[in-house]
Amino acid sequence: MRKKIKIINVVGARPNFMKIAPFQRELDKYKKIFQYKLVHTGQHYDNNMSTAFFKDLNIKSPDYFLNCGGGGHGEQTGKIMIEFEKVLIKEKPDLVVVAGDVNSTIACSLTAVKLHIKVAHIEAGCRSYDRTMPEEINRILTDAISDYLFTLDNMSVSNLLKEGVSKEKIYFVGDIMIDSLVYGLAKVKNKNAILEKYNLTKNEFAVLTLHRPSNVDSEKHLIEIFSALEIIQKDIKIIFPVHPRTLKNIEKSKKLLAILSNCANIILTEPCGYFDFIELFSNSKFVITDSGSLQQETSFLDIPCITVRENTERPITVSLGSNVIAGRDKNKILKFYRQIKSGKFKKGKKIVFWDGKTSARIVAILSQKLAALNYK
Ligand code: UD1
Repeated sequence: MRKKIKIINVVGARPNFMKIAPFQRELDKYKKIFQYKLVHTGQHYDNNMSTAFFKDLNIKSPDYFLNCGGGGHGEQTGKIMIEFEKVLIKEKPDLVVVAGDVNSTIACSLTAVKLHIKVAHIEAGCRSYDRTMPEEINRILTDAISDYLFTLDNMSVSNLLKEGVSKEKIYFVGDIMIDSLVYGLAKVKNKNAILEKYNLTKNEFAVLTLHRPSNVDSEKHLIEIFSALEIIQKDIKIIFPVHPRTLKNIEKSKKLLAILSNCANIILTEPCGYFDFIELFSNSKFVITDSGSLQQETSFLDIPCITVRENTERPITVSLGSNVIAGRDKNKILKFYRQIKSGKFKKGKKIVFWDGKTSARIVAILSQKLAALNYK
């Protein structure tokens, strides 16, 4: 008898929501072939780190909420595995779909393969070649055990081939984040609620985000970054939606609090909802960040992005896009800032398949590859 292919989609942390939302919207067009359920591991749980994204991106409420937020890496990953296994045993899906590189990604893919359930990984093959990053370990392990690896660029394809992944498993489909960005840009068009709230004028402010443990868990690195920002904010307002991890660390440091008290033009806010954040960065003159996603989003819009990390797992944003890597080096940050200020910063180019149609490509491939399961 013909039966529908059953998929469990996984979200856990903030960068997952904008990757799964367009995928589910596309699955809805294939209702005769697929049925799906959504599992939220609870890795991120605050309203502004999680719930707000469900509303903005119009994601249906999760069918399962595993409530596995907080704790160390081992504890968080372990708790998610224990809870996710119960869901898989009950639901018996044909496929588990995970995205990105967060702890929920590896926890759920590992649980699935141990139960002989196939795994699709969206945003496979990204590599920073820095194994001190928790995300790098999550990427390598998830890719090693996934059955369908969807990559955002050709460099990711080469990374996977070098690691011995068979080429039949790899599909270059483009960047699914851009699908959500295109959706979001249409929603925020002609809106300027956030600009008004913070008294900002298009092109006359910068956006700052910091959350990588390698930056924000180190007072030394934060001080180096903020010593550059202290100079930049004399020229231009900097709006800084603060991640909970970052806030905890700033509040602990007398030195950082002293620097910030000197920076009247750095505006600290709570983490933003998705549409609010798009409104902010799409109107900004430039972005300073350690986020991976924001390097992609700014490249799509050709907005200068100064990445305050030593490396990136998205090198195409540097070779073709509008991203530069400054490390946590005050002088490099200021050098790139001066290029932006004087209009001498590089221009980005278009990147293949970053076009808002990645989820359509993924679902078309899955429907073809999984068709055999459709008849049992
Ligand atoms: C995680 C991801 C990172 C991603 C980032 C986006 C991993 C290894 N890291 O890092 O790749 O870029 O999310 O934000 O998966 N917290 C709250 N409220 C929340 C969520 C977290 O207060 O809603 C607190 C936690 O209790 C913890 C800290 O923030 O103290 C860090 O949270 P955690 O999920 O461990 O990692 P992130 O740093 O957010």
